[in-house]
Amino acid sequence: MDKKYIDRYKKAAIDAAYKAGNCIRRSVGRIEKISFKGDTNLVTDVDKKSESIILKMIQRRFPDHGILSEETPPKREGASHKWIIDPLDGTTNFAHSFPIFSVSIALEIDGEMACGVVYDPMRDELFYAQKGRGAFLNKRRLHVSMTGKLKDSLLVTGFAYDDSIKIKNLAPFKTFLSKARGIRRTGSAAIDLSYVASGRFDGFWEFDLKPWDSAAGELIVREALGCVTTFNGTPHLPYDKEILASNTLIHKEMISTLKM
Ligand code: IPD
Ligand code: CA
Ligand code: CA
Repeated sequence: MDKKYIDRYKKAAIDAAYKAGNCIRRSVGRIEKISFKGDTNLVTDVDKKSESIILKMIQRRFPDHGILSEETPPKREGASHKWIIDPLDGTTNFAHSFPIFSVSIALEIDGEMACGVVYDPMRDELFYAQKGRGAFLNKRRLHVSMTGKLKDSLLVTGFAYDDSIKIKNLAPFKTFLSKARGIRRTGSAAIDLSYVASGRFDGFWEFDLKPWDSAAGELIVREALGCVTTFNGTPHLPYDKEILASNTLIHKEMISTLKM
């Protein structure tokens, strides 16, 4: 891939993530409208505002590119370049003014993730990666943790909105509780993945992610030399629902635990 183009794409993703993230931060506690996509699955006017900021910035610069963004129907589906966007990852947290949420923007070119950006506006933390060029947090190079054993690990997971899927995570959650040092649930899968990349968490699993939840974060983990697979250990594609991300060293132990 031509570096000059990729740098332009990365810059566009970063500019859009900052602008949308700043809008989200200013809107904490000032939501004007909440609607429901399911019993507990919310969408606020701010999810939509953030999406409109990102789409305007991306489409103005790259009018031929495809778009897969959570709150809007897909655009130009056959395009070789596809932006995969979660304008607000962690909507439930945001709706309760619980300050963990992010903006996630990735660009897939010919089926391969070329760059990914996750921005946490409350901590001003920008995680980003470019295929083959490493992962960074605010310009500092990232590396996954060196924790070698599950018993010494801090893990994170998430729960889908759908009750029948949510319940599937109870058994693995219980098993990991007794095998790991601790488990957290942040409520933003893009943050979970970025924290695995930065060594704050050693491993992450979830049953039912959508491409916009994982596309940017999984590239960031891989570029920080972590591992991202399905529960069977096959490389994870953003269109696979089950996801297991780790520092690589505890990956096998996590796969065996998920099989129990
Ligand atoms: C959700 C968050 C959460 C994860 C859910 C996602 P949303 O995304 O990433 O951590 O557990 O599966 O749907 O709805 O806040 O964009
Ligand atoms: Ca999401
Ligand atoms: Ca979202």
